[in-house]
Amino acid sequence: MPLVTRRALLTAGSAGFLISATGGAYAGLIEPSLMLDVTEYRPTPPGWPADLPLTIAVISDVHACEPYVPIGRVQRIVETVNRLKPDLIVHLGDHEATYRFVSGRVPPREWAAAYADLSAPLGLYTILGNHDWWHNADEIRRALDGARIRVMSNEAELIEHAGKRFWLCGLGDQLAHWLKRGGFRGEDDLPGTLAKLKTDDPALLLAHEPDIFTDVPARVSLTLAGHTHGGQVYIPHLRNPFIPSAYGGRFRYGHIVEDGRHLIVSGGIGMSGLPVRFGVPPEIVLVRLGQQSATV
Ligand SMILES: [Fe+2]
Repeated sequence: MPLVTRRALLTAGSAGFLISATGGAYAGLIEPSLMLDVTEYRPTPPGWPADLPLTIAVISDVHACEPYVPIGRVQRIVETVNRLKPDLIVHLGDHEATYRFVSGRVPPREWAAAYADLSAPLGLYTILGNHDWWHNADEIRRALDGARIRVMSNEAELIEHAGKRFWLCGLGDQLAHWLKRGGFRGEDDLPGTLAKLKTDDPALLLAHEPDIFTDVPARVSLTLAGHTHGGQVYIPHLRNPFIPSAYGGRFRYGHIVEDGRHLIVSGGIGMSGLPVRFGVPPEIVLVRLGQQSATV
């Protein structure tokens, strides 16, 4: 039996690279600021009709700020999404950056104006994230309203598409308010949001934090969430204690299916806490629902 397993070597090699000068430059500059992946999923949740094709581009956790996600980076994200030609575009919040290494703000009216160039037949919808609330939710909302971008907070909208209909729900943020005694009070109202589903048409849910997924019923075909940044640093087989979730790594990243219920967690674009990304490149998520050929 080998004294050192391949798995241990991979983990040690990744950790060693991260703390080297080259690895530091990669994690602090190249991966967070220069890379942009498009990650595609083709989930087949039981509640979604096979004959309702829908392509959704998901932007999340942009955390626009100088010097890490300047306005030029936001514009590049917009161009990339438009090239994907989705039916619907959603932004899962954390537009704003509120961490200490930020050297300057990108004014909300500037990034909102950039998002106004996003183009899809069914439009653009967004929700607010915890950093939007912690910065100034009123200012963020005013900027989004000014750019005519639909902001959802515990709301549901019935959308017609391909001769059928589906519900798009947007949840209020679950960590909106810090409490003096510790913990948070959310703006989320999942029962109130789902009570607005007045027909049996399939439903999608936008939620900034994935933790709500434990309460989401099978009535919702697919929940889309962000917030975790995939842990921001991901080294295979090494537990990351800094994933911002009460459930540790359970909802860290990707397509999660539990009891037939589907969740996709985007790794997002920007950063919070520390200005590094490693093993979780910034990404736009593209979700293809319904029967679609590979060339669609
Ligand atoms: Fe967040």
